Amino acid sequence: MEQTAADRSSLKLKQKTSISDLPHKVFTLFLITVGLITAITIWARNYTYYLMPLQERPTSQRYDSLRPDGVESHGYGVIGTAMIFIGVATYSSRKRLRRFANLGRIRDFLDFHIFMCLVGPILVLYHTTFLFGGIAGAGFWCMTAVVLSGFVGRYFYKFIPKNIQGDELTSKDLETERADLMESLVSNYKLDENTVKLIEEISVVRFDESKAGLLQLLWYMTKVDLSHMRNTRRLRALLRRRSVPKSYVREITRIANRRIVLRQRVLVLEKIRQVFHYWHVIHLPFSIVMLVILIVHVGVAIAFGYTWIF
Ligand code: HEM
Ligand code: HEM
Repeated sequence: MEQTAADRSSLKLKQKTSISDLPHKVFTLFLITVGLITAITIWARNYTYYLMPLQERPTSQRYDSLRPDGVESHGYGVIGTAMIFIGVATYSSRKRLRRFANLGRIRDFLDFHIFMCLVGPILVLYHTTFLFGGIAGAGFWCMTAVVLSGFVGRYFYKFIPKNIQGDELTSKDLETERADLMESLVSNYKLDENTVKLIEEISVVRFDESKAGLLQLLWYMTKVDLSHMRNTRRLRALLRRRSVPKSYVREITRIANRRIVLRQRVLVLEKIRQVFHYWHVIHLPFSIVMLVILIVHVGVAIAFGYTWIF
């Protein structure tokens, strides 16, 4: 039997919704829990030392173990650095190497990248025992810049539309999907054109993309994010007024929301790509500067015989 555009779009929608599936949420929650437990446990274990005035630290019983080259803090440095390397290497390999292209979804790899590259720096922070002197201190601030820029990048990253594998889509792909979804609203749920138009109007957030700068773009995206819940409520009310059967309302709301998201993404796609291009200018080069400083820092440490437990 031939597949209609509406069937295709409903199938695509199912695929899209299965992206935000339970296993992914459990995985993310697991990573967040592990990260928080690690950070809090170490803080709870050592905070009295970290809060001590510097000149009193050598009098602490735990000084030998907790100073940056002591066995515990040195260990945090080694493990934290290893985590950062693993986090970057796994994401980069999945993104760039053909042979890993089918190895799971890229967004799981990105979550893993973020987890490793957040918990790793937290361990490095404990390694420094909050001392930021010399070239190693400069390395620490580069790392901090990379981490902070990571959050900004993650925010914009969600606006770059991707298919189920996480590969980027073009504006044309998005328009096609929007048209398919429209057809699905009309044919699968027998909504008349007027209702569909009203659904469109509810979701409109005015935006002139041709003149918008970065701040206007951010403001637009925030407005769309904030209006999401209100739109959903208004949509449900509209469908109820039009006596749409209850069993359809959820699915129609989901399709309509998907159309809203797609419209937003078509509008901002090129701008976001530009912003993301500039974003790489912070995240990537700072990572490289950090790496160079790290090589010097570790080289000097090893030359002075600090090899931890090896
Ligand atoms: C991104 C990773 C790392 C950063 C940002 C970092 C940063 C720092 C900082 C800020 C200090 C304290 C400097 C001070 O006393 O004011 C320090 C000390 C130290 N770090 Fe690291 N570190 C990192 C990884 C490592 C690794 C992997 C090793 C293992 C070889 C290591 C070995 C040491 C040693 C032995 C000290 C004490 C001696 C010294 O101050 O040079 N670090 N590190
Ligand atoms: C010291 C910590 C970090 C380092 C060294 C680091 C390094 C990198 C590198 C080298 C890439 C580029 C990979 C590639 O294109 O092959 C990357 C990508 C990315 N990182 Fe990080 N990162 C760190 C922390 C973070 C954090 C904390 C976040 C988010 C909160 C983050 C978010 C991202 C995002 C969204 C990308 C994807 C960019 C893309 O695919 O175009 N990073 N990171």
